[in-house]
Amino acid sequence: MKTGAMALAGAAAVTRVDAQAPAAAAPAPTGPFTLGALPYAPAALEPHIDAQTMTIHHDRHHKAYVDNLNKALVGAPELQKKTIEELIGGITFLPAEIQKAVQNNGGGHWNHTLFWGLMAAPGAGVGGEGEGTALGAAIVKAFGSFAKFKEKFSDAAMKRFGSGWAWLVVQEDGGLAVVSTGNQDNPLMQGVVPNADRGKPVLALDVWEHAYYLKYQNKRADYVAAWFNVVNWTAANALYEAAVAPPVKKGGK
Ligand SMILES: [Fe+2]
Repeated sequence: MKTGAMALAGAAAVTRVDAQAPAAAAPAPTGPFTLGALPYAPAALEPHIDAQTMTIHHDRHHKAYVDNLNKALVGAPELQKKTIEELIGGITFLPAEIQKAVQNNGGGHWNHTLFWGLMAAPGAGVGGEGEGTALGAAIVKAFGSFAKFKEKFSDAAMKRFGSGWAWLVVQEDGGLAVVSTGNQDNPLMQGVVPNADRGKPVLALDVWEHAYYLKYQNKRADYVAAWFNVVNWTAANALYEAAVAPPVKKGGK
């Protein structure tokens, strides 16, 4: 009797949901932000990062950040005109009701776009220690040796409890620092991350489980060690040189 009553109640609930469900859902916005293609084939980073992880990470996780960022901006046409850097750099100036959505999803979009570009298939300019680049030299100068930098960066990646990122940033004084942020926060986020952790990222490592769990399961340390084999030092060095370049004077000759 009890079971029958529950079944009836369940049927009624299903009927109500069905009656409400269709048609009303608005189509998801397709902009202003879009998901760019991976700059290489999903299998390009193997054996260090596997194709299935790359495909799911890009096509589902990154896509969700883009979709949810666009949804958050539906009622804010003025904000739709801003760049992603303007949005995430000025989180605290956004309307309170969308701040968290932009922080999480705008951060997710920017972080992943950077992450893909800072990796490449093992080969020229990839892996190693950034030899022959201004960034490689700056790392040795700042940390004493590449090994000491690698230890510090790996430590930051390992000690990030839960989900987040490890970064190498150029700080306001031009110096390099290893920092870590939680969730999809990043060092550009003024008023969100401590000032001591702010700067312009030149290396980025995603330590969310979705970035490594299929291949490495709970062995984050193995993933971090493997990631060093696919670091795109050419791209990282370009970011470094842009970050330390003197600002262009406006109106001067
Ligand atoms: Fe990720």
